[in-house]
Amino acid sequence: MKVTVVGAGAVGASCAEYIAIKDFASEVVLIDIKEGFAEGKAMDLMQTASLNSFDTKITGTTNDYSKTASSDVAVITSGIPRKPGMTREELISTNASIVKSVAENLIKHSPEVIIIVVSNPMDTMTYLAHQAIGIPKNRIIGMGGALDSARFKYRLAEALGCPGSDVDGMVIGGHSDTGMIPLTRLATRNSVPVSEFLSDDQMSDVKEETKVGGATLTKLLGTSAWYAPGAAVSAMVQAIGCDTQKMFPCSCLLAGEYGLSDICIGVPAIIGKNGIEKIVEINLDADEKAKLEESAAAVRKTNGLL
Ligand code: 2OP
Repeated sequence: MKVTVVGAGAVGASCAEYIAIKDFASEVVLIDIKEGFAEGKAMDLMQTASLNSFDTKITGTTNDYSKTASSDVAVITSGIPRKPGMTREELISTNASIVKSVAENLIKHSPEVIIIVVSNPMDTMTYLAHQAIGIPKNRIIGMGGALDSARFKYRLAEALGCPGSDVDGMVIGGHSDTGMIPLTRLATRNSVPVSEFLSDDQMSDVKEETKVGGATLTKLLGTSAWYAPGAAVSAMVQAIGCDTQKMFPCSCLLAGEYGLSDICIGVPAIIGKNGIEKIVEINLDADEKAKLEESAAAVRKTNGLL
């Protein structure tokens, strides 16, 4: 399996490292516009191969898309990250042209590629990629919900005082500080609803901390996070590469599902060798439905800036 990661910054390099350590791909190509940067990251990562016991071959290239030819999956992380105090939506003016150009270059060299968009504002960038290259909608996926759900599980585990492996939970909706919908009603601690352990106030705190999880880290780090985003998107790449049929909340182009059309927003989907194998319509209660419609309205507003 050949994977291209566009953008050798912190998120892209972390994604490449996690893919290599999981060792399911034969090759990862890191590509960046900064002279020598992707080559350097690739070489540094390859020098961990004997230490981390992986056989995946990581190479780097400075903006030569011919080196990405025949990729099975491509991850778009390129563009600028946010600074403390910024929203993801404020990145659109810079990142839109970058993502459009990257998507066009990828499809030119890999006509069958499945694309995962990470660049922000992610839901809108995913929609832009669909508009720009018009490949079957199962082959362009936005990564946001997998990351937000990981942060949700982190906060749940913190509130419950248990290991993260003991909780499960999903975040749907827009990948934005206000549009995320942590589904506390469905979250569990080892199959037991978390409502049996946490008060309404505690669950409200978990929801709010989850929604600003990215902003919290940006304030601490001075830039966007990279380990969890890299891990989240590498898990989706693995689901495609190994055809695991795992269900992830991810940004899918909807055509009537959840009563929404012509929008990319986070919903549960089965991910496998074809990319989005199936969008899963779970039963939402009235409050969750209202929040999803509100979130969609905000994504559409950002789409309107394209
Ligand atoms: C985050 O939430 C980068 O949007 C990504 O960290």
